[in-house]
Amino acid sequence: MTFPLAVIDAVKATVKTHASRPFIVGYRFSPEEVENPGISIEDSLLFADGLAKQGLDYLHVSSNQFWGGSLRDASDRTSRAVRIQEVVGQRIPVVGVGSLHTPDEVLNAFNSGVPLLALGRELVVEPQWVSKLQADEISQIRTTLRETDQEALEIPDGLWQMILHIPGWFPVVK
Ligand SMILES: Cc1cc2nc3c(=O)[nH]c(=O)nc-3n(C[C@H](O)[C@H](O)[C@H](O)COP(=O)(O)O)c2cc1C
Repeated sequence: MTFPLAVIDAVKATVKTHASRPFIVGYRFSPEEVENPGISIEDSLLFADGLAKQGLDYLHVSSNQFWGGSLRDASDRTSRAVRIQEVVGQRIPVVGVGSLHTPDEVLNAFNSGVPLLALGRELVVEPQWVSKLQADEISQIRTTLRETDQEALEIPDGLWQMILHIPGWFPVVK
C-alpha cells in the first residue's frame, strides 16, 4: 500500500498548490488479478479500507462486469464493487462499472447499494445515453454499432480498428 498512498499524498499536494477551484480526486483500481501471485480480493478489501481514510472523493472499481464475482474463486459470486462498498460503507462513495447497457440494468445495479455507476462502451456507442434517458427517449438509445458509424461518432482511427477487430468487445453489427 505504501506506493499508492505516497502517490495520493503527492496528488493531493499538487491540487492544494495549483487548483484554483474545487478539484476532486478519486482512485480507480482493479480489485483482483487472475494470476497468483497477484492482487487478491482480500488485498483489495484491505486497500479499500486504507483508501477510505485518505480523504478522497470517490473510489472507482474497474471491472468489465459490475455483477461479476471472483476471477480466482468460482464459489465467490458476489460483485467486486459490492464487496468493496460493504467495506467502505458511508465513508467514501464507490463507483461501479461493467456491462450495464440499459437503463434497467443500471437501475438494478443501483439497488445493490453502490451509489455511483459509470458507463464506458455504452457512451462510445451512444454519446447521448444519459440525456436520452432524461428526456424519456429510452427506445432511441443506440445499442449497436455499424461499420459505417465511425465518423458520426467521432471515434479515432486507432480505437475504431480495435473496436472492429477485438471479437466481442463492442456490439458491432453488419
Ligand atoms: C476505449 C476504452 C478504454 C479503456 N481503458 C481502460 C483503462 O485504461 N483502464 C481500465 O481499468 N479500464 C479501461 N477500460 C475499461 C472501462 O473503464 C470499463 O471498466 C469497461 O469498459 C466496462 O464498462 P462498460 O461495460 O460500461 O464498457 C476501457 C474501456 C474502453 C471502452
